[in-house]
Amino acid sequence: MADSPTSISDKWWHSAAVYQVYPRSFFDGNGDSLGDLVGVQSKLPYLKKLGIDAIWLSPFYPSPQHDSGYDVADPRDVDSIYGTLSDAQSLIDASHELDIKVMVDLVPNHVSIDHPWFQAALASPPGSKERARFHFLDAGEQPPNNWVSMFGGPAWTQITEANGELGQCYLHVFDSSQPDLNWTNPDVAADWIDTLKFWLDRGVDGFRVDVAHGLAKDMTYADLPDPVGLTEALRFDLDDGSTEAAERRLLIENSGFFDRDELQEIYREWRKVLDSYPGDRMAVSEAWVPAHRAGRYVSPTSLHQIFGFDFLVVAWSASVMQETIKKAIAAVQAVGAPPTWALSNHDSPRVVTRLGGGETGLARARALAMVAHALPGSIYVYQGEELGLPDAPLADSDREDPVFFRTNGAQKGRDGARVPLPWTASSAPYGFTESESATWLPQPDHWSQLSVEAEDFDAASTLNLYRASLDQREQFRGEVRFIDSGDSEVMIFARDNGIHMAVNTGLEAYSLPEFLLEAEIMLDSEVVKILGDKTEVLPPNCARWFRVFT
Ligand code: NOJ
Repeated sequence: MADSPTSISDKWWHSAAVYQVYPRSFFDGNGDSLGDLVGVQSKLPYLKKLGIDAIWLSPFYPSPQHDSGYDVADPRDVDSIYGTLSDAQSLIDASHELDIKVMVDLVPNHVSIDHPWFQAALASPPGSKERARFHFLDAGEQPPNNWVSMFGGPAWTQITEANGELGQCYLHVFDSSQPDLNWTNPDVAADWIDTLKFWLDRGVDGFRVDVAHGLAKDMTYADLPDPVGLTEALRFDLDDGSTEAAERRLLIENSGFFDRDELQEIYREWRKVLDSYPGDRMAVSEAWVPAHRAGRYVSPTSLHQIFGFDFLVVAWSASVMQETIKKAIAAVQAVGAPPTWALSNHDSPRVVTRLGGGETGLARARALAMVAHALPGSIYVYQGEELGLPDAPLADSDREDPVFFRTNGAQKGRDGARVPLPWTASSAPYGFTESESATWLPQPDHWSQLSVEAEDFDAASTLNLYRASLDQREQFRGEVRFIDSGDSEVMIFARDNGIHMAVNTGLEAYSLPEFLLEAEIMLDSEVVKILGDKTEVLPPNCARWFRVFT
């Protein structure tokens, strides 16, 4: 076993709280109005106090920024808007001094159109070795097949050849600025091993693998029976036994570009590299696959973790949540891996907004955080989640996400969740930058009270709730044991040492059972507000942790 002699539960990532830094919107350290690596380093004490164990940095590599850096022109360097390689090294070292692990994002499914390989492919003729690193096919009247881009529209773009005539098409499962690499080409696999080593040599502790389920393609490029349906199927749990579920399962199993068996060989090689380094180096896969396929990405011969995306979409319903948790744990338990939980990330609406917005959305988001933080495994906290930020309302003219443009505005895209953080209780830019220029996405006028400064000293703030729950979750051990609450809107589970979690998703206050009335209240999502007679009941949209003495 690759994990011997220490048991897997001794690994840092087994139960880590990982904080996702979206560098351009975190903190501007050099006054140019964009966040950068120096800015991240200057806020490490803030992150330490928050109680996180690791940071994951979204891409900071050279990029024309057509997809906010997920279009990488050189995965072994730093974009000048974010700093230099020596800034990256300094951030890694400074994090380690504070006992914070560092994970970087890898984007191996595709590169940027500015990547030297793609430029060389454009300058070379059809059939050349330069084109063989990508998926170039001859085009007729129609694209080579019916695959669709995840961002909308066809997954193929036709190029103009050197002679000025329209020529071949290249595959891009995302934006046309993100040509997919051909992973059957040995240059591609070898180059990514070099990239892994490049960052491992600089001391990074782990990788977040973008579109980890997408690298392998059907090299016959056969049409898909339902290309749009496939995209949707991947976001559903398939195990409800319905006919629709069976159909969705079939779509995925016959998918031309997601979750294919050939991936296993790629990650086997990556795992060998990770295991050859000292320390617990790890990788988490961003793989949108249904629960019953999750185990394929986590094993001693594959990657270490797979993101659990269930809480990004779970309904505000205790009974649904309970089933979701059971399935998510079972899916990875079967392969001996820990589950992971995320309430939000840079691709999803912020949790406050998703759960209804306003005071209700905030109360639910705080309660859901306490549910997630009470579960086994590791948690991923997206920057600003700890402040209770909602999505920022944006005018269409402010938007930058390629999803907005590729769907002609039919989908608004992800910009609302990517607005720069408010640090001071002032007005925009709320201490995010010293620059007079506008931030890349405008911050709302009313974020002063959601700033770090305002929340820091407010005992009832979301920031202080997160600090308390991240601190206390370290005491949580053992399996999750669900307890019948007698109410489908109330979920109660226990962990070891008498620790219990209860959440009320209903509209009525829930009268707590006798054994919880006598318990010590460890934390309440309405926090430190005086609980008064609420100790007898659990109000709607509230979660509470108890320690039951036996
Ligand atoms: C997933 C990333 O999280 C997202 O932001 C990006 O647009 C796509 N992969 C393509 O790289």
